[in-house]
Amino acid sequence: MNTKIDLLKQKQAEAILGGGADRIEAQHKKGKLTARERLHFLMDEGSFQEIGMLVTHRSVDFGMEKEKYLGDGVVTGYGTINGRLVYVFSQDFTVFGGSLSETHAEKICKIMDLAMKNGAPVIGLNDSGGARIQEGVVSLGGYADIFYKNTMASGVIPQISAIMGPCAGGAVYSPAITDFVLMVAQTSYMFVTGPNVVKTVTHEIVTSEELGGANTHATKSGVTHFACANEIVAIQHIKKLLSYLPQNCEDKAPALPYEIKDETRPELNTLLPEIPSQPYDIRDVINHVIDEDSFFEVHKDFAENIVVGFARLAGRSIGIIANQPAFLAGVLDINSSIKGARFVRFCDSFNIPLLVLEDVPGFLPGTDQEWNAIITNGAKLLYAFCEATVPRITIITRKAYGGAYDVMNSKHIGADMNFAWPSAEIAVMGAKGAAEIIFKREINAAEDKEAKWKEMELQYSEIFANPYRAAERGFIDEVIEPSETRLKLIYAFKMLENKVVNNPKKKHGNIPL
Ligand code: HXC
Repeated sequence: MNTKIDLLKQKQAEAILGGGADRIEAQHKKGKLTARERLHFLMDEGSFQEIGMLVTHRSVDFGMEKEKYLGDGVVTGYGTINGRLVYVFSQDFTVFGGSLSETHAEKICKIMDLAMKNGAPVIGLNDSGGARIQEGVVSLGGYADIFYKNTMASGVIPQISAIMGPCAGGAVYSPAITDFVLMVAQTSYMFVTGPNVVKTVTHEIVTSEELGGANTHATKSGVTHFACANEIVAIQHIKKLLSYLPQNCEDKAPALPYEIKDETRPELNTLLPEIPSQPYDIRDVINHVIDEDSFFEVHKDFAENIVVGFARLAGRSIGIIANQPAFLAGVLDINSSIKGARFVRFCDSFNIPLLVLEDVPGFLPGTDQEWNAIITNGAKLLYAFCEATVPRITIITRKAYGGAYDVMNSKHIGADMNFAWPSAEIAVMGAKGAAEIIFKREINAAEDKEAKWKEMELQYSEIFANPYRAAERGFIDEVIEPSETRLKLIYAFKMLENKVVNNPKKKHGNIPL
């Protein structure tokens, strides 16, 4: 028996070494951790249970039958993070550059199946040169199997992808289907075609970092939700993110114990600038309303005119969507609509109540926006709110103009509680523009046109630049003093805790993509 156990130990040691000491050293020289080191930092100590450690590839072309590594370039298994079950795969760049073979794909699919059956998140640590070139179509088939499982798992269990090395070709589509993508600055990149192909086809000269580095995807494309300074930061982000999420779509996110105390926040009464056109940082409002230091912002550097993220309110997870007056006056445009819509849909999939903080002057005008389909893209946010069945509360802090009033979780599209601060202005458009249109004749006929315009502007704003018309109609449930906001939200979310809404039965809706 002892010799048999020795053989097992020998095989285990061989698997743990992956592509060998030299390649591990090369990985470290690039500033990257190995697949197993990453798991060591991610999982609760001693909790990781490996599955498929002895799997090898089946390829026989190009002398591959002589080059086999136990595990075949991916470490898969399950374990816990802060005591909660998760399934993980971690690609091993030291084995054929982490490239995806038929068996490598099978290992990933196996843990995804287990995750679906047992209702727990899947975390993928990606570091791969893409399809295993020596295997041809079976490797492509392996990718497609993963894409299919990603799609089936979408909305059932949270899926998180950390990109910790190259991620090229069609390989980028698995992370893209998952719920959250994290990238590591300087050592990871994602693109469908790399700089060489770009140069040949479009004659653009661009580095990998410029084309598909963490900063690019965090700011320009929005492909990544988080750009992390290094791998450890990325791992910390994954853990924090998970702390706000339930295990699956049937579950509720974990709540921390909380007792209501003095919840008034007098600072909120003086937070808005005296002049309505002046900006302020909506994060200041968020941080005064939520539990201390609990805001975890998502997609921070993309479409900064909308702020989204998770927080806790009286210990419970909520998702926040907030217009940001400090950036482009908080206007809704294509990117902010897409960003907001995706976040709303995620929260709704996983039973996370929604809080909307609204201060929006409308949709961004212009040819760029119109020609790039602000209509279709703005409709995404509208659609996402309309179909969301989780508890939904809106606070209008200041502007709620035009279509943006409807879109930003208005009562009419299913919000449960709509509050407004006394500073709220709820109208079809700003008073200046409105006066110019509806009092055009009076203004033109006046001797002092400017003075007349001002007078009519004042008249319009007296009628509409307040929350009371909307409150009279019941579109606003209550006009509240800003300092009471936190208390009102705690009570309202508690009141909505057992909300049940069933949208009409359908195969699936057709969100305007
Ligand atoms: C097999 C691969 C590989 C691959 C890298 N290796 N990519 N083996 N299939 N796709 C191997 C290398 O031969 C090398 O083996 C080791 O991994 C490390 O690679 P290096 O090139 O030395 O590393 P580095 O300089 O860091 O460059 C990494 C890299 C580069 C940028 C990823 O290797 C590269 O460009 N690889 C090819 C990428 C690619 O075109 N993949 C196919 C994309 S298309 P040794 O033995 O020397 O350690 C695709 C289709 C998916 O993925 C479609 C899904 C729909």
